[in-house]
Amino acid sequence: MCGIVGYTGLDQAKDILVDGLKRLEYRGYDSAGVALEATDGAGDPRIDVVRRVGKVAGLESELVGVDSAATCGIGHTRWATHGRPSVANAHPHVSCDGRIALVHNGIIENFAELREALVRRGHTFMSDTDTEVFAHLIEEAYDGRPADAATGEPARPGCHDLMGAVREACTHVVGAYGLAVVCADEPGVIAVARKDSPIIIGRGERGSYVASDVIAVIDATRDVVVLEDGQFARLTREGITYTDAEGNAIEPAVTHIDWDIDMAEKGGYPDFMLKEICEQPRVVRDTLVGRMTGGELDIDELGLTMEELNLIDRVYVIACGTSYHAGLIAKNLIEMWARIPCEVEAASEFRYRNPIITPSTLVVAVSQSGETADTLAAIRDARIKGAKVFGITNVVGSPVARESDGVIYTKANKEIAVASTKSFIGQVVSLTLLALLLAQVKGKLTTGQVRLLFSELGNTAEQIQWILDTQEEAIHEAALACKDAHSALFVGRGMGAAIANEGALKLKEISYLHAEAYAAGEMKHGPIALIDRDFPVIAIATKSPVYDKTVSNLKECEARGAKIIVVATEGDEDIHKIADHVIYIPPVRDAFSAITATVPLQLLAREVALMRGCDVDQPRNLAKSVTVE
Ligand code: M6R
Repeated sequence: MCGIVGYTGLDQAKDILVDGLKRLEYRGYDSAGVALEATDGAGDPRIDVVRRVGKVAGLESELVGVDSAATCGIGHTRWATHGRPSVANAHPHVSCDGRIALVHNGIIENFAELREALVRRGHTFMSDTDTEVFAHLIEEAYDGRPADAATGEPARPGCHDLMGAVREACTHVVGAYGLAVVCADEPGVIAVARKDSPIIIGRGERGSYVASDVIAVIDATRDVVVLEDGQFARLTREGITYTDAEGNAIEPAVTHIDWDIDMAEKGGYPDFMLKEICEQPRVVRDTLVGRMTGGELDIDELGLTMEELNLIDRVYVIACGTSYHAGLIAKNLIEMWARIPCEVEAASEFRYRNPIITPSTLVVAVSQSGETADTLAAIRDARIKGAKVFGITNVVGSPVARESDGVIYTKANKEIAVASTKSFIGQVVSLTLLALLLAQVKGKLTTGQVRLLFSELGNTAEQIQWILDTQEEAIHEAALACKDAHSALFVGRGMGAAIANEGALKLKEISYLHAEAYAAGEMKHGPIALIDRDFPVIAIATKSPVYDKTVSNLKECEARGAKIIVVATEGDEDIHKIADHVIYIPPVRDAFSAITATVPLQLLAREVALMRGCDVDQPRNLAKSVTVE
């Protein structure tokens, strides 16, 4: 939810921190801040904190006037949970004496009781955040704890060791944390802790780095440690040591990152969203590489034997947001090809229900980030209930990957824009492979049929490219027709209904225009009452078994004066009779239509958002990874 970064080394920390925060900004952009080592007039060390409400660019401007030679510091970009966005609530937070500063990502569930006890023992709080309790807990562990008259706890001596104090403080905290801490009394040291919140550590030629995401350190190193829950790290200029909760030395595994920093830059595009939309042909190709060997479908990371797969008699797809919509597509494919009942459920609902799970239930957890809190909780719940869990994620080594029995990595590479685009395409392609495999194992499709479908699936890469190359003008005209609307309706049947959901979400989240998705056949049961000339109806009416039915529903809308925009199949001229605007996609098998028909809807949402003056990469109130409930 928030982004944290830290550096200690030979170079000036300020610019490294700001650069890291800019790359982590997709995780939240309500406020930002840094803590830098400094010295006072007498040459004694202290910590300087600079914080600003708003995006990292504001912090960067403020830091231009700060003359800092610090070679050690920490930084944070926030997505507010406890406490509104304000300077006081921005990180870093400091101890009462200002000698300890920290940045935190996560939620401290018992913060109210911790805060009450800390106040009782004389601490003064400067913010409304849960995080600040950590600063005071560490201060007590470091300097010593006064007696607590209310609980009868006697005074305790301090340990005067930052790493030890952080470890001690963590024993009092219930919740999730990725934490980086500096202390004026230990120059050049950053103490790091992790529980249920991503932390990666890297060692470059010129120093040691900590961050929420590898993207912040990839310039310095490609070999990183993904810290596990309950592990701690102590970073210095010279190197990094790792310990467990008891303080025993450990040697965590090193993960090599094989994507390039160019992938995290705009590369000449005006925004990340457009760049990522345009990468989708590559995503299709990369996600399919190595998946057909010797004429056989090859998904060896499944973590399940063919016998176990054959026993699967129920599938749940659990996910949130766009990933949930990928699940809606998967339901159609799994039921059509493998004939296994498949339910798609929002992870936030699944985790609080009592779904019917048996050892022959397969739960497929889909998450771009691999760290969505609801999806993770649903995975844990499903495993406790005895399900096999299969993850589909874009982030190597992410919690979803680590906590599932098997995993397919979508090959979208880093996705920066908050609105998911290319990762959706990677998810749909991966789920299509899974559906084909289940169908083959169950004997519902022959090897020959699977090969043919696989080859057609590969063709969607060129089909997407065709849309990108030819439909710009049509999408622009359609966007002009939508930009001043107060609301929009996305409709379709079958696959089209599933795609409509993603189209509506894209428009809502980046253009702030209300949009709703509806099964086209359901329009006459209520939503048709909404229709007037200012209410665009955006239909997915590609050639499919339900094409004629969808067109009939659109005629009902047309008769009531709706402005109609249709995503149709190239060559369908009749559609112009009812549509005000037509965006074409190449002819495609209905099973694969989500992969292509979603693309014009992504572009339409972006175009409308730009016309309405919105920031398409960083829409208001959102963050890319939702690591809180
Ligand atoms: O990382 P995840 O796929 O688990 O994220 C799920 C949703 O938060 C995400 O898809 C969100 O809806 C995006 N903003 C959609 O564009």
